[in-house]
Amino acid sequence: MSTNPIFCAIDTPDTARACALAESLGGAVGGLKIGLEYFNAHGMAGYQKLAAFETPIFLDLKLHDIPNTVASAVRALAPLQPALLNVHAGGGAAMMQAASDAAQEAKDKGLRVPAMLGVTIMTSLADADLHQMGIAGTAQEQVLRLAHLAQKNGMDGVVCSAHEIAILRAELGPDFKLIVPGIRPAGSATQDQKRVMTPAEAQKVGADILVIGRPITGADAPRQAALDIAAQLSA
Ligand code: C5P
Repeated sequence: MSTNPIFCAIDTPDTARACALAESLGGAVGGLKIGLEYFNAHGMAGYQKLAAFETPIFLDLKLHDIPNTVASAVRALAPLQPALLNVHAGGGAAMMQAASDAAQEAKDKGLRVPAMLGVTIMTSLADADLHQMGIAGTAQEQVLRLAHLAQKNGMDGVVCSAHEIAILRAELGPDFKLIVPGIRPAGSATQDQKRVMTPAEAQKVGADILVIGRPITGADAPRQAALDIAAQLSA
């Protein structure tokens, strides 16, 4: 995988726009993130159109169901061979382990085994939002709890906000992947993200992958925006 830690979130239901972004971002980002918006509109065929640009893909489907169903979904996605695939850590220990075991089966079929990630707490949620859902304590405490659970149950890393990177790195070790959305270059709009950090700060505290969507895709010149962000990062 490239050493460029930027994965651009291709959040659009428009295939032509998604392909144009994928093409223009070639070499300017380390990977593309395909999520619910694009995948639900275009499915596996749409995924393959973007995979043709040969940039590593993080398939961000945030699977969350009973263990058997999630494992079956992971098996069904195996032919796509994403570099990274995720499930909600909130689905619990057995669900994450079933997803991890199903991902490993790809090896027997000669397919790439994706790095499996647990989504902790969405970066659009703050402490008050968690309290509304009956989760006491802080978002950071809940992220830490879920990340430990993810590590014990077959996940290779977690998706977290930049504000949890330092504590997760300290508690979960150097090899556990930390994938961080909610990244906003200094001065850009936060939109619906609440727990944000700049790319350089997030890298400095130990993020492995920076997921960046609208600051790149919403720019007048997306490739230049990605290159500008990459220039702020250390190699
Ligand atoms: O446009 P923006 O940079 O906010 O995009 C962030 C991307 O990361 C979106 O695709 C969103 O679905 C995803 N994401 C997130 N928070 C999480 C997990 C994924 O924002 N906790």
